[in-house]
Amino acid sequence: MAGEFEGKVVIVTGASRGVGLGIARRFLEAGASVASCSRKEMLPPPFADRIPGGVERAVHWVCDQRDFDQIDAFVTRVVERFGRLDVLINNAGGAPTTSTTEVSPRFHKATIENNLTGPMWFALRAHRQMVTQESGGSIVNISSQASSPAGSPTLVSYGAAKAGLNHLTKSLAKEWGPKIRVNCLSLGHVVTEMWREYIARSDPAIEHKLAAQVPLRRFAQPEEVGDACLFLCSRSGEYVNGATIAFDGGLA
Ligand SMILES: NC(=O)c1ccc[n+]([C@@H]2O[C@H](COP(=O)([O-])OP(=O)(O)OC[C@H]3O[C@@H](n4cnc5c(N)ncnc54)[C@H](OP(=O)(O)O)[C@@H]3O)[C@@H](O)[C@H]2O)c1
Repeated sequence: MAGEFEGKVVIVTGASRGVGLGIARRFLEAGASVASCSRKEMLPPPFADRIPGGVERAVHWVCDQRDFDQIDAFVTRVVERFGRLDVLINNAGGAPTTSTTEVSPRFHKATIENNLTGPMWFALRAHRQMVTQESGGSIVNISSQASSPAGSPTLVSYGAAKAGLNHLTKSLAKEWGPKIRVNCLSLGHVVTEMWREYIARSDPAIEHKLAAQVPLRRFAQPEEVGDACLFLCSRSGEYVNGATIAFDGGLA
């Protein structure tokens, strides 16, 4: 796909670390301009200076997706800087595993807002821009295997929010076609600091056990999620719409 994304403008939310960083990297390597965000300040992505033209094509600005005004200001700033918006990767989110009754009701509310309301707001704001462009746009929501209809004990509000994100994907794809495609990746294990701390509990024995459950016998790397996003937003993925794709090595 080298060159296919030249001139395209991509937003990746939650790209100060982890999966988002891998996705941002792949789009930058494919020639796109990439605007990423997180709640904390960060210098431009660490890999940008190793990609030809990367420093000029990459920005990282603060935007908390729990606040629609911040999303509105962020997207406005991206369009002012780069002139358009072709792709939104709704990646920011996550939650620690907890005993459902031992955390406060506010924890559950905040988890649902950060994993469902925020991405929905980002999609709505991106749509407002994309619909004005002849070529429309493409949105990818990053969900989780915790959204499975089989349930997700200890990740109850997170699983419910991500299941909502899968449903939102289908609804928006049906409403916003043909100009805007909306798809979703339901991730299994992807190696990030968050994953090591909360899922593998920094314990090699747990990692070993988890890997044994995956038919491919390994975990994914953040850049591999980036590759799947590139496919969904490329010409090769043009007929894929409204899909929630398991990206889990065959685990589900
Ligand atoms: N890693 C896995 O195995 C796995 C599995 C299933 C699903 N996922 C999903 O993949 C996505 C990324 O996971 P990850 O492992 O990369 O997590 P992570 O390492 O914790 O990274 C999350 C990113 O989102 C940002 N973020 C969080 N809340 C935000 C907000 N309100 N506004 C803007 N940015 C926000 C964080 O930066 P700040 O803290 O600075 O805001 C960070 O950049 C999440 O949606 C997660 O649910 C991951």
